[in-house]
Amino acid sequence: MRALWRRYLNGNPEYLAHYYWWAYLAPFGVWFFSHHLVINSILFGQYRRILDALLRHLHTAPCGRMLQLTCAYGKLTPALAGLTDELHLTDVASIQLKIAGNGLAHQHRSALMARMNAESMAYAASSFDTVVIFFLLHELPPAARQRALSEALRVLKPGGRLLIAEYGIDRNRHPLHRITLLRRAIERLEPFLHDFQQDDLPAQLQSCALKHGKSLQPADEQALFGGYYRVMLFNA
Ligand SMILES: C[S@@+](CC[C@H](N)C(=O)[O-])C[C@H]1O[C@@H](n2cnc3c(N)ncnc32)[C@H](O)[C@@H]1O
Repeated sequence: MRALWRRYLNGNPEYLAHYYWWAYLAPFGVWFFSHHLVINSILFGQYRRILDALLRHLHTAPCGRMLQLTCAYGKLTPALAGLTDELHLTDVASIQLKIAGNGLAHQHRSALMARMNAESMAYAASSFDTVVIFFLLHELPPAARQRALSEALRVLKPGGRLLIAEYGIDRNRHPLHRITLLRRAIERLEPFLHDFQQDDLPAQLQSCALKHGKSLQPADEQALFGGYYRVMLFNA
């Protein structure tokens, strides 16, 4: 029998269809996860805090031409659209762009949307003043993550800002990391999370920046929920 996930390939990366079809590609999943209560519960009630921690950096200076690197459920996209006249939103899944467009229209806001793979984007080099990545990286297999980081640095202008909201590093100190059953359940749903949490993200970003002849300085890192989550700001 043909595996169910294969029907969601449809131009999407294999890992996305295989591991995340139920969350990002199947219409029922998209409907289900579009509810604030669901997304907030997945983030252990921290959605607002994470969003505020990210947005506070964007209130300090004009955002200019801004890229939201992939869609995210919740209020992020309308909030970003309210901060700039030129928000670009890209995602590899058309259903995600559609739902994001509906959400923006509902709030009387807009963004320039394009279907692209974060691992290889069609935007010109150094074309964005601000790049925002919200809980994407931990969902990517290591090689895809490396390519997506490289692309984010390629399109970021020298002098621009990169903002990342993500899970914190796992040093097995947080109470949630020590509940074995919960840990196993999360690792099953998020097969690349553990790998991501062992990586040195700032070092990876620095090497991607160097590859594109750019420099990148870590400017701020806020640990949230006892370090289970983090919001990071880098200046190019
Ligand atoms: C931003 S991440 C996770 C967001 C978070 N779980 C939430 O919704 O709050 C999920 C998005 O990344 C997209 N995505 C995953 N891999 C991608 C890739 N290689 N290129 C572009 N979009 C990708 C998925 O289609 C999905 O819309």
